[in-house]
Amino acid sequence: MSQWIETVAFDDIDDEDVVRFDHAGKTFAIYRVEDTAYASDGLCTHENVHLCDGLVMDHVIECPKHNGRFDIRNGRPLGAPVCVALKTYPAKVEGGKVLIEL
Ligand code: FES
Repeated sequence: MSQWIETVAFDDIDDEDVVRFDHAGKTFAIYRVEDTAYASDGLCTHENVHLCDGLVMDHVIECPKHNGRFDIRNGRPLGAPVCVALKTYPAKVEGGKVLIEL
């Protein structure tokens, strides 16, 4: 059964930025683009590199290691070397916090 988990304060994320959130032994990446929050697995699907150290440009996260890119709205890989989609999660902002549905 899915449930909404409270993560970080929305205002703690800069626009076009990403922060790390750890929960139940897993790492997630929480993004902000303008007034919208997004969430995905925190590790790149190419190698186990933390995406929170990557660069967000518009709705794209660029992995810090080999510059693989994913669309943070749906996890779609946008070219080599990444070919496996990133798992994404529904996200919303409530009471100033980002909630993600796991
Ligand atoms: S580890 Fe992310 S692109 Fe290689």
